[in-house]
Amino acid sequence: MIGSFKNVFFSYDGVNPILENVSVELKEKQFFAIVGPNGGGKTTFLKLLMGLLEPQKGSIELLGYKPQDVRQKIGYVPQVLRFDKHFPISVEELVLQGLLSKLSWLGRFKTEDIALAHQALESVGLIDYKEAPFGSLSGGQAQRALIARALIGGPDLLLLDEPTASIDNRAEQEIFTLLKRFAQNKTVLMVTHDLNAIAPQVDHVLFINRTLTILNPADVCGHFAMGVYHPPLRSN
Ligand SMILES: Nc1ncnc2c1ncn2[C@@H]1O[C@H](COP(=O)(O)OP(=O)(O)OP(=O)(O)O)[C@@H](O)[C@H]1O
Ligand SMILES: [Mg+2]
Repeated sequence: MIGSFKNVFFSYDGVNPILENVSVELKEKQFFAIVGPNGGGKTTFLKLLMGLLEPQKGSIELLGYKPQDVRQKIGYVPQVLRFDKHFPISVEELVLQGLLSKLSWLGRFKTEDIALAHQALESVGLIDYKEAPFGSLSGGQAQRALIARALIGGPDLLLLDEPTASIDNRAEQEIFTLLKRFAQNKTVLMVTHDLNAIAPQVDHVLFINRTLTILNPADVCGHFAMGVYHPPLRSN
């Protein structure tokens, strides 16, 4: 098991509950899709798992430790591109940001770090763009560059918050294929609003709307794609 939530309660203001009594076990070599309505608590769930937020009640464990003690084992692709598209940074430099915690006191990256960046760019199919300005990439390419940045440190757990929100179907499928390959050895949790496209390809679906429900991908109804959230319907 890579991580777990046990009876977790979380509120930002101490009044309105955002997550209530959330328990889940995250096993290795699994691909989890996280779905649920806007404001349901999906991003909050990921932030708790990274130790950026702490629960008021309950416990969260990651690789046998508190999340904040093993944060370098997590690769994270945030929900919104917070990068100025005109910020003068190359694709290679963006990927190297994933190693900032390892930067030497001289502020330079070592040859082996550059090699890691190239390996990460290779794995997302962007090696030919390593010298391109990040701002010149298409939406799908930019997402893949951000995934390379999350992969460079060799994480055990990859968290992605709607990485395919602004890209076309083909780029989306390419990213799923990439993540599925990663999930053969490690663990992936991905927030998505496009469950129909990936339900058949994931191992588990976590439905988060203040509480967490684990769904079998086979039970997930097409209504999810239209934003109509309801418990799985049984035919009997
Ligand atoms: N920093 C914050 N301070 C106070 N309230 C917050 C904060 N961040 C989120 N919230 C509130 O917590 C609730 C859950 O937010 P969260 O971002 O986890 O939802 P989400 O499921 O990721 O939604 P979306 O699908 O829109 O990304 C929302 O009502 C939101 O307004
Ligand atoms: Mg969110």
